[in-house]
Amino acid sequence: MNTSHAQTIEAIRRQRGSALVIMGHHYQGGLVIQHTDLRGDSLELARQVRGLCAARHIVFCGVSFMAETAAMLAAPGQTVVQPAPEAGCVMSDMAPAPLVDAVLRRLTADGRRVIPLAYVNTDAAVKAVVARHGGSVCTSANAQVMLRWALDQGDGVLFLPDKNLGHNTADALGLAPRERALVDVSAHGAALDPAALRATPLLLWPGMCVVHKRFRAAQVEAVRQRDPDALVVVHPECEPEVVSRADAAGSTSFIIRYVEQAPQGAAIYVGTELNLVERLARDFEGRKLVRPLFPSRCQNMAKTTEEVLAATLEDLDDIEPVTVPCDVARDAVVAIERMLDICR
Ligand code: 13P
Ligand code: SF4
Repeated sequence: MNTSHAQTIEAIRRQRGSALVIMGHHYQGGLVIQHTDLRGDSLELARQVRGLCAARHIVFCGVSFMAETAAMLAAPGQTVVQPAPEAGCVMSDMAPAPLVDAVLRRLTADGRRVIPLAYVNTDAAVKAVVARHGGSVCTSANAQVMLRWALDQGDGVLFLPDKNLGHNTADALGLAPRERALVDVSAHGAALDPAALRATPLLLWPGMCVVHKRFRAAQVEAVRQRDPDALVVVHPECEPEVVSRADAAGSTSFIIRYVEQAPQGAAIYVGTELNLVERLARDFEGRKLVRPLFPSRCQNMAKTTEEVLAATLEDLDDIEPVTVPCDVARDAVVAIERMLDICR
């Protein structure tokens, strides 16, 4: 810890009081997360923004799609600032809005009602496209409820961009492998054959998270061999071969609860971003043995450092807030609110 950055941050927090709220995703490093007022998984963070009535400034330590969502849910007069605005999400970049729109137009050209369900790990512009096509968004914490909802709305669902979360959620809902197909999004959607996909209820975008792709079935099997009593919990962005071999899978907050509720003395291997696993290992040291299934770090989450947070707070009144064009925000909020209404 750099004492002067920590002191700067804490002094500004004291001085600004309830007018300043620092939010942080669970994947933020310990030096940043120690200064947050609120932390959570993507769903919890989105929900919490609506309750921050006294806050004038919301400083969001996370990646761009999270800060954008917060900016769209913030009240008039509140500003959302992202300390590292260049921190994007590799998975969200795999589904650019014009391509999502082109693919949806092609899938629906013959009158088929395909409902898009976008993982919250997408740009605001994608959420707006999804809303215009009658769809909604989901997070890892409510993907099953939202996929069930989407399947009931039309005669097919386009789940994007995470094919792994799509497969894992479909597995949890009992959808057979023949009821899903990967969509070919090459050539701006021109390569896909809507007629061949017409009878398939769940269409999956071919995206994934590079951080969670590093977890392999062989790593779970190696743990089982070494320590048959050990528990394995993973994030549902991992490949289905990993999730099906784990004892449990769920959002980052689910993983935290799973470790909290594991018996004293348990060894728990965790398949998610390393900052969270290291923090759990420290928090439970001497009581439970928490280990990474494999050390995998999200380079974008790591862009928010204690130094960057201190500099942001020093400059708070002059810094450029996160903005989303009005027409995009108007439609994207419809998709987000559909989710918040369905998952109260
Ligand atoms: P959670 O919503 O589970 O916190 O996950 C967000 C994320 O980006 C996982 O990679
Ligand atoms: Fe995106 Fe993966 Fe990083 Fe989550 S861990 S923010 S999905 S790149």
